[in-house]
Amino acid sequence: MARIAYVDGRYVPLGARAVRIEDRGYQFADGVYEVVKVVGGRFRDLDRHLDRLERSLAALDMPMPMPRRALGLVLHETWRRNAVPDALVYLQVNRGAGPRNHAYPPLLKPSVVVTVRPARFPTRAEQEHGVGVITLPDERWAQCHIKSISLLPNVLAKQQAALAGCREAWLVDEAGLVTEGSSSNAWIVDADGRVVTRPLDRRILGGVTRAVVLDLARANGIEVALRPFSVEEAHGAREAFLTSTSSLVLPVVAIDGRPVANGRPGSTTCRLAELYARAEELESVS
Ligand code: PDD
Repeated sequence: MARIAYVDGRYVPLGARAVRIEDRGYQFADGVYEVVKVVGGRFRDLDRHLDRLERSLAALDMPMPMPRRALGLVLHETWRRNAVPDALVYLQVNRGAGPRNHAYPPLLKPSVVVTVRPARFPTRAEQEHGVGVITLPDERWAQCHIKSISLLPNVLAKQQAALAGCREAWLVDEAGLVTEGSSSNAWIVDADGRVVTRPLDRRILGGVTRAVVLDLARANGIEVALRPFSVEEAHGAREAFLTSTSSLVLPVVAIDGRPVANGRPGSTTCRLAELYARAEELESVS
């Protein structure tokens, strides 16, 4: 079935020439985005995604392109027209189109694009066996808490991970501390059995999955420590995992080619993955 996109008020075939050449997203990466999942026909954590969208827009001095409720309706309608029960819905809001000039004119009309694709969540084998990550210097800008479409360093890091046969690249700051993955948040379980992830700062994106997993851990008596961890600590950790809307809670069993503990997904990770799957009503996929 032909895929349908929403572009500035119209529903068009995905391949349509619908984006304006002088759109600032295209010319300057002057825009923000969200990726929301739909499982069994229901949007998951939509409010948290829209909260983050509002924060990203505000940080870039951009207005909401339409009232929040209307945006929710556009997301639903685009999803409905694509008839994919389990989907990833991509929303991009750019500052708008205008004569190319670095400084932006006031009162530009934001441009909005929504696309839908079938979700490809981790397979049962990936969940059971875990995945590998590599570590790389974090070469991104200083405001990674904004979900900006300017993703070139993330793209290059992910490509290096793929070339190394790994799922993800964990990015490392000047102090040797892991910030996050190129498109996911990074976690370990430390020697005291605590679940550790970096506290929110400008070096990481506040993942929606991260927030849900933190809530679940706390509600289920799993001790959490919000602190940065080093690459060395990760190499020696009891367990490691990553989280994102599309990767869910995914065990990390090797870092830079070295096994994490015995090289098998850890028990706390599996428990969190289970709690998350139950909370989001995810079926395990084979
Ligand atoms: N990526 N950190 C970065 C840099 C990300 O790009 C993402 C999400 C996350 C996890 O956020 P969340 O749990 O809200 O998905 C962390 C999305 C899925 C993407 O770029 O496709």
